[in-house]
Amino acid sequence: MAKLDGAKVVVIGGASGVGFAVAAAAMEAGAEVFVGSSQAPRIEAAAEKLGQIANGKGAKGRTVDVKDEASVAGFFEAAGPFDHLVFTAGDWGHMFGPTRDLDVEASKARMEVRFWGAARAAKHATRQIAKDGSITLTGGMLAHRPMPGMPLVTASANTTEGLALGLARDLAPIRVNAVCLGLIISEQVQTMGEATIKGFTANLPLPRGGTVEEAAEAYLYLMRATYVTGQVVRVDGGGSLV
Ligand SMILES: NC(=O)c1ccc[n+]([C@@H]2O[C@H](COP(=O)([O-])OP(=O)(O)OC[C@H]3O[C@@H](n4cnc5c(N)ncnc54)[C@H](OP(=O)(O)O)[C@@H]3O)[C@@H](O)[C@H]2O)c1
Repeated sequence: MAKLDGAKVVVIGGASGVGFAVAAAAMEAGAEVFVGSSQAPRIEAAAEKLGQIANGKGAKGRTVDVKDEASVAGFFEAAGPFDHLVFTAGDWGHMFGPTRDLDVEASKARMEVRFWGAARAAKHATRQIAKDGSITLTGGMLAHRPMPGMPLVTASANTTEGLALGLARDLAPIRVNAVCLGLIISEQVQTMGEATIKGFTANLPLPRGGTVEEAAEAYLYLMRATYVTGQVVRVDGGGSLV
Protein backbone atom coordinates (compact mmCIF):
# COMPACT_ATOMS: atom_id res chain seq x y z
CA MET A 1 0.00 0.00 0.00
CA ALA A 2 1.25 3.48 -0.82
CA LYS A 3 2.49 5.20 2.31
CA LEU A 4 2.07 8.83 3.22
CA ASP A 5 5.69 9.20 4.36
CA GLY A 6 6.98 12.44 2.92
CA ALA A 7 3.62 13.30 1.32
CA LYS A 8 2.06 16.71 1.88
CA VAL A 9 -1.64 16.73 2.73
CA VAL A 10 -3.82 19.86 2.68
CA VAL A 11 -7.02 19.71 4.76
CA ILE A 12 -9.56 22.50 4.31
CA GLY A 13 -11.86 22.23 7.31
CA GLY A 14 -8.99 20.90 9.43
CA ALA A 15 -9.75 23.03 12.49
CA SER A 16 -12.17 20.51 13.97
CA GLY A 17 -14.17 17.33 13.66
CA VAL A 18 -13.56 15.00 10.75
CA GLY A 19 -11.00 17.30 9.09
CA PHE A 20 -8.88 17.50 12.23
CA ALA A 21 -9.01 13.71 12.61
CA VAL A 22 -7.89 13.29 8.97
CA ALA A 23 -4.98 15.68 9.53
CA ALA A 24 -3.95 13.82 12.71
CA ALA A 25 -4.17 10.41 11.01
CA ALA A 26 -2.18 11.68 8.00
CA MET A 27 0.55 12.95 10.31
CA GLU A 28 0.64 9.64 12.14
CA ALA A 29 1.09 8.00 8.71
CA GLY A 30 4.16 10.18 8.10
CA ALA A 31 2.68 13.08 6.12
CA GLU A 32 3.29 16.77 6.49
CA VAL A 33 -0.05 18.61 6.84
CA PHE A 34 -1.26 22.09 5.95
CA VAL A 35 -4.67 22.81 7.47
CA GLY A 36 -7.09 25.62 6.71
CA SER A 37 -10.35 27.02 8.04
CA SER A 38 -11.97 30.42 8.32
CA GLN A 39 -11.40 31.38 11.97
CA ALA A 40 -7.79 32.25 12.84
CA PRO A 41 -7.83 31.21 16.54
CA ARG A 42 -9.38 27.85 15.70
CA ILE A 43 -6.96 26.97 12.91
CA GLU A 44 -3.95 28.17 14.91
CA ALA A 45 -5.00 26.01 17.86
CA ALA A 46 -5.50 23.02 15.54
CA ALA A 47 -2.04 23.42 13.95
CA GLU A 48 -0.45 23.64 17.39
CA LYS A 49 -2.26 20.51 18.60
CA LEU A 50 -1.26 18.64 15.44
CA GLY A 51 2.34 19.72 15.95
CA GLN A 52 2.26 18.04 19.36
CA ILE A 53 1.11 14.77 17.78
CA ALA A 54 4.19 14.70 15.58
CA ASN A 55 6.67 16.06 18.10
CA GLY A 56 6.45 19.56 16.74
CA LYS A 57 7.25 18.90 13.09
CA GLY A 58 5.26 19.18 9.95
CA ALA A 59 1.97 20.93 10.86
CA LYS A 60 1.08 24.33 9.50
CA GLY A 61 -2.22 26.19 9.54
CA ARG A 62 -3.58 29.19 7.65
CA THR A 63 -6.95 30.87 7.45
CA VAL A 64 -9.03 30.47 4.33
CA ASP A 65 -12.62 31.46 3.64
CA VAL A 66 -13.86 29.12 0.93
CA LYS A 67 -16.71 31.53 0.19
CA ASP A 68 -14.11 33.96 -1.18
CA GLU A 69 -12.17 32.94 -4.30
CA ALA A 70 -9.26 35.34 -3.65
CA SER A 71 -8.86 33.84 -0.18
CA VAL A 72 -8.80 30.32 -1.64
CA ALA A 73 -6.22 31.37 -4.28
CA GLY A 74 -4.00 32.91 -1.56
CA PHE A 75 -4.33 29.80 0.59
CA PHE A 76 -3.03 27.48 -2.14
CA GLU A 77 -0.23 29.89 -3.03
CA ALA A 78 0.85 29.76 0.62
CA ALA A 79 0.47 25.96 0.74
CA GLY A 80 2.88 25.49 -2.17
CA PRO A 81 3.23 22.15 -3.99
CA PHE A 82 1.37 19.29 -2.30
CA ASP A 83 0.08 15.76 -2.90
CA HIS A 84 -3.42 15.35 -1.45
CA LEU A 85 -6.35 17.71 -0.78
CA VAL A 86 -9.10 16.78 1.65
CA PHE A 87 -12.11 19.10 1.79
CA THR A 88 -14.32 18.84 4.90
CA ALA A 89 -15.31 22.50 5.25
CA GLY A 90 -18.97 22.89 6.06
CA ASP A 91 -21.25 25.34 7.77
CA TRP A 92 -24.29 24.27 9.69
CA GLY A 93 -27.06 26.57 8.49
CA HIS A 94 -30.33 24.92 7.68
CA MET A 95 -32.16 24.09 4.49
CA PHE A 96 -34.98 22.40 6.37
CA GLY A 97 -38.70 22.99 6.12
CA PRO A 98 -41.78 22.41 4.00
CA THR A 99 -41.21 22.95 0.29
CA ARG A 100 -44.15 25.36 0.02
CA ASP A 101 -42.36 27.72 2.46
CA LEU A 102 -38.93 27.43 0.87
CA ASP A 103 -36.72 30.52 1.18
CA VAL A 104 -34.93 30.08 -2.13
CA GLU A 105 -32.40 32.89 -1.69
CA ALA A 106 -31.36 31.76 1.79
CA SER A 107 -31.07 28.21 0.51
CA LYS A 108 -28.76 29.32 -2.31
CA ALA A 109 -26.43 30.85 0.27
CA ARG A 110 -26.24 27.47 2.01
CA MET A 111 -24.40 26.09 -1.03
CA GLU A 112 -21.54 28.58 -0.69
CA VAL A 113 -19.27 26.55 1.61
CA ARG A 114 -20.04 22.91 0.92
CA PHE A 115 -20.53 23.07 -2.87
CA TRP A 116 -19.11 26.28 -4.30
CA GLY A 117 -16.35 26.22 -1.68
CA ALA A 118 -15.34 22.75 -2.86
CA ALA A 119 -15.40 23.93 -6.49
CA ARG A 120 -13.20 26.94 -5.65
CA ALA A 121 -10.79 24.71 -3.74
CA ALA A 122 -10.54 22.21 -6.61
CA LYS A 123 -9.90 25.02 -9.10
CA HIS A 124 -7.02 26.56 -7.14
CA ALA A 125 -5.64 23.22 -5.95
CA THR A 126 -4.85 22.43 -9.59
CA ARG A 127 -2.10 25.11 -9.50
CA GLN A 128 -0.12 23.18 -6.85
CA ILE A 129 -1.25 19.54 -6.68
CA ALA A 130 0.98 16.67 -7.85
CA LYS A 131 -0.10 14.85 -11.03
CA ASP A 132 -0.36 11.61 -9.03
CA GLY A 133 -2.15 13.37 -6.18
CA SER A 134 -5.75 13.15 -5.02
CA ILE A 135 -8.70 15.29 -4.00
CA THR A 136 -11.33 13.98 -1.59
CA LEU A 137 -14.59 15.85 -1.03
CA THR A 138 -17.19 15.29 1.70
CA GLY A 139 -20.87 14.52 1.28
CA GLY A 140 -23.58 13.15 3.53
CA MET A 141 -25.98 10.23 3.78
CA LEU A 142 -29.03 12.38 3.12
CA ALA A 143 -27.94 12.22 -0.53
CA HIS A 144 -29.06 8.57 -0.51
CA ARG A 145 -31.61 8.49 2.30
CA PRO A 146 -33.92 11.47 1.78
CA MET A 147 -36.13 12.54 4.69
CA PRO A 148 -39.33 14.60 4.75
CA GLY A 149 -38.69 18.33 5.07
CA MET A 150 -35.15 18.13 3.69
CA PRO A 151 -35.27 17.94 -0.13
CA LEU A 152 -32.64 20.64 -0.54
CA VAL A 153 -30.25 18.92 1.87
CA THR A 154 -30.52 15.79 -0.29
CA ALA A 155 -30.00 17.83 -3.46
CA SER A 156 -27.05 19.67 -1.95
CA ALA A 157 -25.38 16.44 -0.75
CA ASN A 158 -25.74 15.00 -4.25
CA THR A 159 -24.06 18.03 -5.83
CA THR A 160 -20.91 17.24 -3.84
CA GLU A 161 -20.79 13.67 -5.09
CA GLY A 162 -21.56 14.87 -8.63
CA LEU A 163 -18.73 17.37 -8.44
CA ALA A 164 -16.29 14.64 -7.36
CA LEU A 165 -17.31 12.43 -10.29
CA GLY A 166 -17.05 15.27 -12.81
CA LEU A 167 -13.67 16.38 -11.47
CA ALA A 168 -12.35 12.82 -11.62
CA ARG A 169 -12.81 12.92 -15.41
CA ASP A 170 -11.70 16.48 -15.88
CA LEU A 171 -8.58 16.46 -13.68
CA ALA A 172 -7.30 12.92 -14.43
CA PRO A 173 -4.72 11.58 -13.71
CA ILE A 174 -5.29 13.46 -10.45
CA ARG A 175 -7.73 11.19 -8.60
CA VAL A 176 -10.94 12.68 -7.21
CA ASN A 177 -13.33 10.88 -4.85
CA ALA A 178 -15.84 11.67 -2.14
CA VAL A 179 -16.58 10.32 1.33
CA CYS A 180 -20.27 10.11 2.20
CA LEU A 181 -20.70 10.45 5.95
CA GLY A 182 -23.49 9.11 8.11
CA LEU A 183 -23.82 10.62 11.56
CA ILE A 184 -20.28 11.17 12.83
CA ILE A 185 -19.88 12.37 16.39
CA SER A 186 -17.80 15.49 15.87
CA GLU A 187 -17.89 18.31 18.47
CA GLN A 188 -20.49 19.97 16.26
CA VAL A 189 -22.74 16.90 16.15
CA GLN A 190 -22.42 16.43 19.93
CA THR A 191 -24.33 19.70 20.34
CA MET A 192 -27.41 17.93 18.92
CA GLY A 193 -27.69 16.05 22.23
CA GLU A 194 -27.71 12.36 23.04
CA ALA A 195 -31.43 11.77 22.46
CA THR A 196 -31.35 13.21 18.92
CA ILE A 197 -28.19 11.28 18.06
CA LYS A 198 -29.81 8.08 19.33
CA GLY A 199 -32.92 8.83 17.29
CA PHE A 200 -30.84 9.02 14.09
CA THR A 201 -28.69 5.97 14.80
CA ALA A 202 -30.64 3.41 16.89
CA ASN A 203 -31.96 1.52 13.84
CA LEU A 204 -28.69 1.31 11.94
CA PRO A 205 -27.02 -2.08 11.42
CA LEU A 206 -24.23 -0.55 13.56
CA PRO A 207 -26.52 1.23 16.04
CA ARG A 208 -24.42 4.25 17.06
CA GLY A 209 -22.81 7.34 15.59
CA GLY A 210 -19.37 6.94 14.03
CA THR A 211 -16.22 8.43 15.53
CA VAL A 212 -14.18 11.04 13.68
CA GLU A 213 -11.30 8.55 13.65
CA GLU A 214 -13.50 5.96 11.89
CA ALA A 215 -14.45 8.60 9.32
CA ALA A 216 -10.79 9.57 8.83
CA GLU A 217 -9.94 5.98 7.77
CA ALA A 218 -11.89 6.47 4.53
CA TYR A 219 -9.95 9.61 3.59
CA LEU A 220 -6.63 7.88 4.34
CA TYR A 221 -7.72 4.96 2.14
CA LEU A 222 -8.62 7.28 -0.75
CA MET A 223 -5.28 9.10 -0.52
CA ARG A 224 -3.41 5.80 -0.70
CA ALA A 225 -5.62 3.96 -3.21
CA THR A 226 -3.69 4.79 -6.37
CA TYR A 227 -6.10 2.96 -8.73
CA VAL A 228 -9.33 4.45 -7.35
CA THR A 229 -10.97 7.55 -8.79
CA GLY A 230 -14.52 8.82 -9.24
CA GLN A 231 -15.82 6.81 -6.26
CA VAL A 232 -17.94 7.57 -3.24
CA VAL A 233 -16.99 5.71 -0.05
CA ARG A 234 -19.78 5.54 2.52
CA VAL A 235 -19.00 5.66 6.23
CA ASP A 236 -22.53 5.34 7.58
CA GLY A 237 -22.80 2.35 9.93
CA GLY A 238 -24.68 0.51 7.18
CA GLY A 239 -27.29 3.29 7.05
CA SER A 240 -27.76 2.93 3.31
CA LEU A 241 -29.16 -0.61 3.89
CA VAL A 242 -32.13 0.35 6.04
N1 LIG B 1 -20.48 15.04 11.29
C1 LIG B 1 -21.48 14.50 10.58
O1 LIG B 1 -22.32 13.74 11.08
C2 LIG B 1 -21.61 14.81 9.10
C3 LIG B 1 -22.57 14.12 8.35
C4 LIG B 1 -22.68 14.39 7.00
C5 LIG B 1 -21.85 15.34 6.41
N2 LIG B 1 -20.95 16.02 7.18
C6 LIG B 1 -20.09 17.03 6.55
O2 LIG B 1 -18.75 16.73 6.85
C7 LIG B 1 -18.01 17.93 7.01
C8 LIG B 1 -17.26 17.88 8.35
O3 LIG B 1 -18.17 17.72 9.40
P1 LIG B 1 -17.75 17.93 10.92
O4 LIG B 1 -18.78 17.29 11.74
O5 LIG B 1 -16.33 17.57 11.09
O6 LIG B 1 -17.95 19.52 11.04
P2 LIG B 1 -17.08 20.69 11.70
O7 LIG B 1 -16.30 20.20 12.88
O8 LIG B 1 -18.00 21.84 11.87
O9 LIG B 1 -16.01 21.01 10.56
C9 LIG B 1 -16.25 21.91 9.54
C10 LIG B 1 -15.01 22.77 9.37
O10 LIG B 1 -15.23 23.68 8.30
C11 LIG B 1 -14.62 24.90 8.63
N3 LIG B 1 -15.30 25.95 7.88
C12 LIG B 1 -16.58 26.41 8.04
N4 LIG B 1 -16.83 27.42 7.20
C13 LIG B 1 -15.68 27.61 6.47
C14 LIG B 1 -15.32 28.51 5.44
N5 LIG B 1 -16.17 29.45 4.99
N6 LIG B 1 -14.08 28.42 4.92
C15 LIG B 1 -13.19 27.49 5.40
N7 LIG B 1 -13.48 26.61 6.36
C16 LIG B 1 -14.73 26.67 6.90
C17 LIG B 1 -14.79 25.03 10.15
O11 LIG B 1 -13.78 25.80 10.78
P3 LIG B 1 -13.89 27.41 11.00
O12 LIG B 1 -15.06 27.63 11.88
O13 LIG B 1 -12.59 27.81 11.61
O14 LIG B 1 -14.07 27.98 9.64
C18 LIG B 1 -14.66 23.59 10.60
O15 LIG B 1 -13.34 23.28 10.94
C19 LIG B 1 -19.01 19.08 6.92
O16 LIG B 1 -18.99 19.57 5.60
C20 LIG B 1 -20.33 18.40 7.15
O17 LIG B 1 -21.36 19.02 6.47
C21 LIG B 1 -20.80 15.77 8.51
